[in-house]
This record gives sequence, structure tokens and C-alpha cells, in this order.
Amino acid sequence: MKDKINIGILGLGVVGSGTVKVLQQNADSIREKVGSEIVIRKVAVRDLNKRRATDVPREILTNNPIEVLDDPEIDIICELIGGVSPAREYVMRALKNGKHVVSANKELIAKEGYLITAEADRLNLDFQFEGAVGGGIPIIQPMRNALSGNRVQELMGIVNGTTNYILTRMTLEGADFDMVLRDAQAQGYAEADPTSDVGGFDAQYKIAILSSIAFNSRVNVADVYVEGITHITRRDIECARELGHVIKLLGIATRVGDDGVQVRVHPALLPNAHPLASTNDVYNAIYVRGDSVGDVMFYGRGAGMMPTGSAVVGDVIDVCRNIRMGATGRVRTNTFEAKRMIPMVDVESKYYLRMQVDDRPKVLASVAMALGDHDVSIETVVQKSTGRDLAEIILVTHTVREGNMREAIEDIRSLETVRQVFNWIRVEK
Ligand SMILES: NC(=O)c1ccc[n+]([C@@H]2O[C@H](COP(=O)([O-])OP(=O)(O)OC[C@H]3O[C@@H](n4cnc5c(N)ncnc54)[C@H](OP(=O)(O)O)[C@@H]3O)[C@@H](O)[C@H]2O)c1
Repeated sequence: MKDKINIGILGLGVVGSGTVKVLQQNADSIREKVGSEIVIRKVAVRDLNKRRATDVPREILTNNPIEVLDDPEIDIICELIGGVSPAREYVMRALKNGKHVVSANKELIAKEGYLITAEADRLNLDFQFEGAVGGGIPIIQPMRNALSGNRVQELMGIVNGTTNYILTRMTLEGADFDMVLRDAQAQGYAEADPTSDVGGFDAQYKIAILSSIAFNSRVNVADVYVEGITHITRRDIECARELGHVIKLLGIATRVGDDGVQVRVHPALLPNAHPLASTNDVYNAIYVRGDSVGDVMFYGRGAGMMPTGSAVVGDVIDVCRNIRMGATGRVRTNTFEAKRMIPMVDVESKYYLRMQVDDRPKVLASVAMALGDHDVSIETVVQKSTGRDLAEIILVTHTVREGNMREAIEDIRSLETVRQVFNWIRVEK
């Protein structure tokens, strides 16, 4: 058995530095657990002169990733640079060279994970990616191992820390989206270009990865419906509160019948009593319902140097154990079922709808009529005068097909007495 397992790291940014720190600070206990010493043999970066958050001997740093990928002494490559290219080429080259790969790259895995996994399977190598979803929260390994006896019925999660931080502050402080976003950028909780987070795309990658594992089926990123949080106002949050709900950006994947799945990312009203409703700030939580286990929830820090480093090191340790036991390639591709993606118009949900109308008789009746024409019935409705002969109507519907709801909203928009439909948001049970 090998008394030393060599790893090569591509990238020494937030996650790369966290990985090195975890390996350094817990080196003794990790060696005991694995039965071998894990040695960081080489680390590739772009800029050799940049100040780093961790101490790495200058002689193991290189700005040539090929030196790491082609080093015959290296057993495991940690791909921690991000993006699709050149990360994909590096991962494929590592596999071709007989190396196991650990990655935290959600974009690459969501878009091309199926190709990489197939190649790893073919070569009997490990490809692990716990850090790609939920940062430090163990979710990929539990889904691929401990929960793999289940038929997953539904998965729902808060998988983006930045948007959860923004929505939490809007809720607690009654603040506007733009103000909180600027502050989050100043504090380093949001990127200078926040599109990937606030547009829901980061969550889209993560829910595509999770649903592919949950439903044993390849879920294409492009088939995951996505809607971000930029249209959520503090008034919507206030109205949600009055209705006993909070607004969260959710990733939701649901099994429909024997052969269908729905996968979507959008903001939603959640009842205060829902287990995900109290997941605040940058925390993430993922709720899984399996046919045997029932409900399980995973909660923790969804990003950051040390939490994500913890996930990457967990994968490295797992691969090391497989190497020692000659059991690599143990967990294989699971996308063996072809599933029908249910389009968003066929999703069934309750809806919150807020609009400004003329404050006169029969207006509410005409709104109810427009909804009724599309088989949408009202569960709760509040009408409030706002002065100047105007009123605000806030209503929540019973469960209805989304296509019907969209048509009803178009009809409501064309009513003479409706000045503006401010917002409509799905309401989850
Ligand atoms: N940040 C998080 O909390 C978090 C959480 C979960 C998953 N992830 C994922 O983890 C991955 C890394 O994210 P990060 O936040 O650590 O990114 P980051 O801080 O920007 O670090 C990227 C690192 O990769 C290096 N790099 C980039 N392109 C390279 C190339 N072509 N050759 C060699 N080195 C290259 C950079 O080198 P220089 O330093 O020299 O520029 C840098 O050290 C991404 O896929 C991300 O989605 C991040």
C-alpha cells in the first residue's frame, strides 16, 4: 500500500487556499484516517507573484498547469480554477494521464459533468465534486451513497448564499434590493458583476447537478427554468410577511409520475413554518424527500474558503481510501434513466399577485372574473385603499397550472380598471 499519496492543485484562490489550509491544519488526523500521508506536490496558478491567503513553498508553485497534469508522481488533481475552459481540457488530460480528479467547479460539472463522469468510469478513475454544490455542506456524497437506496421524490434548496443574504437583509431591515446589493458588494458577499447570483444562474447550475443525481437522469442546464430576484421589492416582502411567509430564492426539483421531472429556480413565498424559511444570511440548506427515508435536510455554509476547502478535502480523503483499497471508480455514472422535462407552463403552484387598481366598485369582481375564466380560484385576498382613488389588491390563488395563471395575468393587465400588475410570485407549500 502507498504510504504517500501525491496531489496536484490547479488554482490557489478562495477554494484552493482553503483546501491547502485544511490539509495543513489537520494533517496528522488526516494521515491517521487515510493510512497514508497526503502530499501537496505541485500547485498551478496564473500569477506567481500574487500574495496568497495560505503558505505554499515557492518551489511547488508553477504557472504551467501541464507540469502538474503530466507529473507521473501525482495521483489526484484538484481542479479549483473555475469556468468551462480550460478547466475541461485540464480535467480530461488528468483523467487521460490516469489521475483521479476532485473539482468544485459547478459550471463545468453542470454543463459537461456527464462527459467527464463517463470518461472517469471508462478508466476506472474517481471524479468527485462535493464542493460544487452547497460549499461545505455534504450533499453530493450523501445523495450518491447514504441516500442512494431511495427514489427521491423532491428536492428543494436555498443554494445561493449571495441572494439569500440579500433577501434576508431586505426582510429584516425593510431595505430595497439595490441598496442591499451595493452593500453586499462592498462587504465582499456579492461579486462586482452579480448577474450569476442575482439572475439565478449559479443556483441553476447547482440544481441541475443535484437533480441529475437525484433522478438518475441527465438534466441539461438549459432545461432548468430560471428566474432571479431582481424584481423582488421590499413591498412584496412586506406583503409576504403579512401573509405569514418569507421570500426565498429556491431551486426545486420534483419527480412527476414515472418518467417526468420538473426542475426550476425562482423566488417563492414560503410559509414561516417551512424548515427552509429560517435559513438566513449566507447559509444554504437543501431539503430532500426520499421514498424510504422521508424528509432530510442539510444545512450549513454554502461557500467560502474553509467550508469549501473542507468539502474538497473530504473528497480527496475518499479518493485516497479508494486508491489504498484498489477500489477507485466505485461510484459510477448514474444517469441511466431518460426523463421527460415538464415545461414550466405545466408546473402547478399557488401564486401571489399584487396589483394597483382603481378604487371603485366591481373592480375586485372583474379581477376575480378574469382569474376564473382561466380556472384560477382565489384562496386569500386583501384590498387596501392607497389614496388618490387607487387601491392595492394582494391575493393568493389556490393551486393551478402555471399556463392558466399566465393567461389570467395577461387578461388582468388588459382590464381598464387595473393600473399595473406589480408582481406575481409562486407560493410553495
Ligand atoms: N469561492 C467559493 O466560495 C466557492 C464555493 C464553491 C465552489 N466554488 C468553485 O470553485 C472554483 C474556484 O473558485 P474560487 O472562488 O476559488 O476562484 P478564485 O478565487 O478566482 O481562484 C481561481 C484560481 O485559479 C487560478 N487560475 C485561473 N485560471 C487559471 C489557469 N488557466 N491556469 C492556472 N491557474 C488558473 C487563479 O490563479 P491566480 O490566483 O494566479 O489568478 C486562482 O488562484 C470555481 O469553480 C467556483 O465556482 C467556489
